[in-house]
Amino acid sequence: MEKIILDTDMGIDDVFALLLSIYSKKIDLKAVTTVEGNCILENANKNALKILEMSNCNNIPVYSGMDKPLQVEGVYAEYVHGKNGIGGVEYTLAKTQVEEKSAIDYLVEETSKYPNEITIVAIGPLTNIALAVQKDPDFVKNVKRLIIMGSAEGAGNVTPDAEFNFYRDPHAAKIVMESGFKDIVLVGLDVTNRIPLTKKLEEMLLNINTELSKFLYKATRMGAEFDRNEGLDGLILNDPLTIAYLIDNSVLKLKNVDVEIETDGEKRGKSIIKNSDNSNYKFAYDLDINKFYKILFSEIFPENTEIINQYIK
Ligand code: RIB
Ligand code: CA
Repeated sequence: MEKIILDTDMGIDDVFALLLSIYSKKIDLKAVTTVEGNCILENANKNALKILEMSNCNNIPVYSGMDKPLQVEGVYAEYVHGKNGIGGVEYTLAKTQVEEKSAIDYLVEETSKYPNEITIVAIGPLTNIALAVQKDPDFVKNVKRLIIMGSAEGAGNVTPDAEFNFYRDPHAAKIVMESGFKDIVLVGLDVTNRIPLTKKLEEMLLNINTELSKFLYKATRMGAEFDRNEGLDGLILNDPLTIAYLIDNSVLKLKNVDVEIETDGEKRGKSIIKNSDNSNYKFAYDLDINKFYKILFSEIFPENTEIINQYIK
């Protein structure tokens, strides 16, 4: 099993990534660390605690992280995720609380306790990861692998150049990309824009007809409307592709790259991707769309594979 820490800003696509981490038998989710991004940190914490409670996983701890970027003014994505991060869907708060220890201290201490064993999956702005790098010089060495949802070789989704996670904290993205992690996999918009929650998949969620599937349908309405207005075929399921890759790495095609990050000006957050044979950073340039959908929905809804197989061949 792949031991992971999920570092997340708990928007709606983050929810799919968290659920996949919880339900997949190939993933051992050690903890969730939260960062402000899609929504304010307080709501990211509430969302993480609620999804864990809904999944009967109160044993998985949540550590609260940074509520602002390293240098720039924070931006949010409430137009996709709603003010509360879960498409505005109201819910009763979980009975659990976040841990006393900070996310940065947990990231440093846990990877130091288990060197080379833990993969960090970062699906929000990279503020926590950058601060862990600055806090302990051994952190980079102790992390087995870093899978990042972020970057765009082509068009961005916040500006024509920048993807949201890198745009919100470009200085953190620069620190992380320049810190020498032994293995980074970048999952960017060039592949994630090709995996929307289509109308057929929305219909499938309704036909599965469980509390969870109906919750996910409701929570995705705001994002689906926004992304369709942007000309996409539904809410883009960016974050769970990182977890699907850990479950079955044949879902992505990767190339070795060097990555530079623009931190200032109108190109703030732009990731400049250059092919490179002598880099241990890998960039996803293609994916198996059907395989992704099959992994995502059959892992989260194992009792409903008959319905899923009618929609995903
Ligand atoms: O650009 C998409 C990324 O930004 C996703 O992680 C989404 O949840 C937002 O955090
Ligand atoms: Ca996210």
